[in-house]
Amino acid sequence: MDNQHEVIVRAAKPADLSALCALFIEFHDFNLCGVPDRLARSDSLGGFDCVRLEANLRHLINTHGCNILVAESGGVLLGLAEIYIRQTSEGTAVAQRIYGHLQSLIVTEAARGCGVGQRLLRAVEAWADARGASELQIDCWEFAAGPLGFYEREGYRTLTRTLVRALTSDQRAVGKPEFAESHVVCQPK
Ligand SMILES: CC(C)(COP(=O)(O)OP(=O)(O)OC[C@H]1O[C@@H](n2cnc3c(N)ncnc32)[C@H](O)[C@@H]1OP(=O)(O)O)[C@@H](O)C(=O)NCCC(=O)NCCS
Repeated sequence: MDNQHEVIVRAAKPADLSALCALFIEFHDFNLCGVPDRLARSDSLGGFDCVRLEANLRHLINTHGCNILVAESGGVLLGLAEIYIRQTSEGTAVAQRIYGHLQSLIVTEAARGCGVGQRLLRAVEAWADARGASELQIDCWEFAAGPLGFYEREGYRTLTRTLVRALTSDQRAVGKPEFAESHVVCQPK
């Protein structure tokens, strides 16, 4: 990281698009290392479609209710945060709430551990707060080198969990019933 220049956190501009693409690719590759069976490898996609990615990012920085914030030092982007304002649907069993959703947060590897991620997170919280959000929500993959510890240090707690268990292929064998009927007598204690 450049020690000569201060770090500025600001909204992304169209001139940032190619640097933003590079950060998003680094973000994808970081997560791919952590959960290789959950994300597509870029070579299986024939490489990243940067034209399409740039078009999506341009839309994000020009659309009301979402944004990309960047951390910059000496003209170099060190990190980004992709943020949305969301609202729960009316007339459902879910309590009404306006909240911020942090979709992506990355600090480039060489700049980690210097407070840049924390500054981006605080800026995201301020951005969402100014738009009426009562809280910030984040979905993150859980793996050893992942960001859960960072978020917990920053005051976040787990609200829901996605539980998974691999299923065995012999359950799919042709001709086998989907499940074996079982009868259990329930005896009150
Ligand atoms: C997670 C990430 C954004 C943190 O950015 P960073 O600039 O390195 O974080 P900071 O330097 O601001 O760290 C703030 C505090 O969190 C701690 N911290 C940082 N990463 C941590 C981690 N993975 N686990 C536990 N603590 C962590 C720091 O030690 C620091 O603690 P301190 O204030 O006591 O010194 C960065 O590591 C990153 O980009 N990771 C890869 C992408 C990723 O996982 N993004 C989140 C996806 S939802």
